[in-house]
Amino acid sequence: MLDRTRKLWETQDRAVGDRRPLFAAVAQGLDVSAVLYPGSYVDLAPSFVFPSVTYVDVDRRANQFFSDEEGVRALLAERGADPGRHTFRFLHADYQEPLALEERSFDLVVSLYAGFVSEHCTRYLRPGGHLLVNASHGDAAMASIDDRYRLAGVVRSRDGRYRLDGSGLERYLVPKRDVEITRESLHRSGRGVAYTTSPFAYLFERVG
Ligand SMILES: C[S@@+](CC[C@H](N)C(=O)[O-])C[C@H]1O[C@@H](n2cnc3c(N)ncnc32)[C@H](O)[C@@H]1O
Repeated sequence: MLDRTRKLWETQDRAVGDRRPLFAAVAQGLDVSAVLYPGSYVDLAPSFVFPSVTYVDVDRRANQFFSDEEGVRALLAERGADPGRHTFRFLHADYQEPLALEERSFDLVVSLYAGFVSEHCTRYLRPGGHLLVNASHGDAAMASIDDRYRLAGVVRSRDGRYRLDGSGLERYLVPKRDVEITRESLHRSGRGVAYTTSPFAYLFERVG
């Protein structure tokens, strides 16, 4: 493994913490095999849980990281993932542009702190598949006004533990302020909407 690969991973790990429990909670509730993660940077955590993950990022360091395939496989092995069973692929690309991926072929699309992933990448998600998205960059709000989605659950976190919850969903996505949420307003602000209740992330099912 290149030194750079380990350093990039350690910095990521320090910055966001161990996300394996997050993805494990999602895996417990859903039947997921193929995952698409646009704007992943070097967040390798989904590969500790899911068998097949496609990462997409424009960032040069993310490209360097995933280009060291042997090093990434070693990181997977260190975390107990079987590198023979957990495959990964990286596209050094802008997810806003068409990607060399089959449409409607992924079970899960991940959107964490990386802009309006849902707008550009829902096409790759199969109907019945899910979008895991947080509110931070406005993408949860974007999904909430997208007819192709229905809210199917939330991921709640406490003391480093994550739990998928499909009950009482009417409590969520209620804005604190009485404002109209449109694609234009979200693009204009580029920020998330403040909601009365704030779970760690939302799970939307593709229904259209
Ligand atoms: C704040 S980081 C978040 C990384 C990761 N999702 C996480 O939660 O740790 C945002 C990443 O999204 C990437 N990104 C933003 N817009 C993108 C785009 N249009 N296409 C590909 N990558 C993009 C950036 O290069 C950056 O690596």
